[in-house]
Amino acid sequence: MMRLKRFFIIFFLLSLILSCNESKRGLYEIPQYKKWRKPVSYVLDRPVPGHGSTYRIIYANSITFSAKSDKKTGNVTMPNGSVVIKEVYKKKEYIDKVEPELTIMVKNTGDPESLNGWNYYVKHPGKGIQSVKSRMCVGCHVSANEEHPYFDGNKDEKFRDYLFVPIKQQ
Ligand code: HEC
Repeated sequence: MMRLKRFFIIFFLLSLILSCNESKRGLYEIPQYKKWRKPVSYVLDRPVPGHGSTYRIIYANSITFSAKSDKKTGNVTMPNGSVVIKEVYKKKEYIDKVEPELTIMVKNTGDPESLNGWNYYVKHPGKGIQSVKSRMCVGCHVSANEEHPYFDGNKDEKFRDYLFVPIKQQ
């Protein structure tokens, strides 16, 4: 059952991303996820460890935005099925023109291989989606649950479910 679920999610991601990027004439077409909401409207250009000196845009599906924080603790737990995609462009002028690298987080606590509840993926331009099984990504994303230098900084050190970008705070 879990395998089936995982297969479904990977299949969903592949079809979501590949079907749209693939182009007969070699032009970059606009993928589906670009219709999703952005938790921050601006392009992130501050160099970050792990994502380098790049230009980044974050998109999240509607399930992600349905997250509520706990009234008492203020902690945020993202619902299963949340998908957060971060585009990583090497140059500013590539934005929406050249296929970016994608880093992807999918919330799936039902998957025994998930890392603290999330599956992490990377998609390099022109290549398929790779699942990241090591703790490379989560090892750094764990800092999102503490005070950190990004966005609102999570000053109160609330559990933010491994997301740096504040999607739902209260
Ligand atoms: C050394 C730290 C570090 C590592 C390693 C890292 N990230 Fe991140 N990640 C960040 C930071 C900081 C942000 C905040 C947004 C920004 O400025 O890029 C972020 C943002 C993201 C986001 C947008 C959601 C959020 O948390 O804000 C996704 C998706 C993401 N990273 C995926 C990945 C994946 C997949 C990997 C592994 C291949 C990875 N990251 C490795 C630091 C890291």
